[in-house]
Amino acid sequence: MSDKNHFETEAIRTQTETSQFSEHSVPLYLTSGFVFDDAEEMRASFAEEKQRDLYSRYSNPNVNEFIDKVCKMEGAESGFAFASGMAAVFSTFATLLNAGDHVLSCSSVFGATHGLFTKYLPKWNIECSYFNINEVETVESLIQPNTKFIYAETPTNPGVDVLDLELLSAICKKHNLLLVVDNCFATPYLQNPIKYGADLVIHSATKLMDGQGRVLGGVTVGKKELIREIYLFSRLTGPAMSAFNAWVLSKSLETLAVRVEKHCENALKIAAFLENHPKVNWVKYPFLKSHPKYDIAKKQMRLGGNIIAFEVKGGIDGGRKFFDNIKLCSLSANLGDTRTIVTHPASTTHAKVEAEVKAAVGITDGAVRISVGLEHVDDIIKDLDQALNHAE
Ligand SMILES: Cc1ncc(COP(=O)(O)O)c(C=O)c1O
Repeated sequence: MSDKNHFETEAIRTQTETSQFSEHSVPLYLTSGFVFDDAEEMRASFAEEKQRDLYSRYSNPNVNEFIDKVCKMEGAESGFAFASGMAAVFSTFATLLNAGDHVLSCSSVFGATHGLFTKYLPKWNIECSYFNINEVETVESLIQPNTKFIYAETPTNPGVDVLDLELLSAICKKHNLLLVVDNCFATPYLQNPIKYGADLVIHSATKLMDGQGRVLGGVTVGKKELIREIYLFSRLTGPAMSAFNAWVLSKSLETLAVRVEKHCENALKIAAFLENHPKVNWVKYPFLKSHPKYDIAKKQMRLGGNIIAFEVKGGIDGGRKFFDNIKLCSLSANLGDTRTIVTHPASTTHAKVEAEVKAAVGITDGAVRISVGLEHVDDIIKDLDQALNHAE
């Protein structure tokens, strides 16, 4: 048998050192600073000759514990935790990129990430372009001499498209590029991009890592030397995760495996139900045989995740009637909660994305994204069914 503990065990047993009170559950270290014994300790600590917490903008015992857990779950060497997923995305980009660089990203990315690519990075003379998520064979032809990294989300938000991580990593290696993956939809329980060659993995911890819709958080993990640069940038700019959020999130990670198993079991049943519903045009879920990248999803994901995309018949009107008749599920823009959430990406999370970009990645007016929760699956199906029957 291997010496390494299983995922669930590491999630529970990776803990900050016990204090003098011998507590069983790790306490909350709500402190902005830490004290030193004398001038020499203070000097040596700031000179990094001594490893210890100095100030919570740099590190904190609760945040360290959260990072250690995510590193073990992802098979990563090191990490840094942020106040939100977008703080993780932005700080990673800001660290890696210089003026004159180019980023090649998959075409279907989270709306705020698209906003960074189109609105903010260009103002620092950083060029961004997209490869079509369904035409990975074009990736190599889009690489430029100044391309720094390939950016991928898989599964994507909100299209639930799947990208072949092994293939992307082989392309990156061949062209000496970094591969940066947003693994938020999969969670480290379902998919480990580093195993397939990714250099950095980003998560919005706000989603399934918290799993209960309470706090915001983000994390980037991966190669030690890259994380060191991200740490140095973040130490100066201050996007750090709060101790309180780290404490909540670290406790949430203890139950990630059991929660995600159940989310996925519910989601697969609901995806199959939707696929056979007369008021539905199409359904996309990674573990449905009809998903265009089913084989890749099966290869790199343990289960299909909790997000389903589908289109209600009847366009905008059909969609509106569907949303207006939902009773149990929540109309919200978050995802990865115990509560099932239905979202209309075209008017919410992706409202600021240009019409042609939305069309290219399948965000139609009738497209719905469901984040399947942990209510009894029969009750979720009952609610979706009655709302769909009001559509069109
Ligand atoms: C794929 C993906 N990446 C990043 C983010 C940003 O995370 P946060 O809302 O924690 O900033 C989200 C949020 O929905 C997301 O879905």
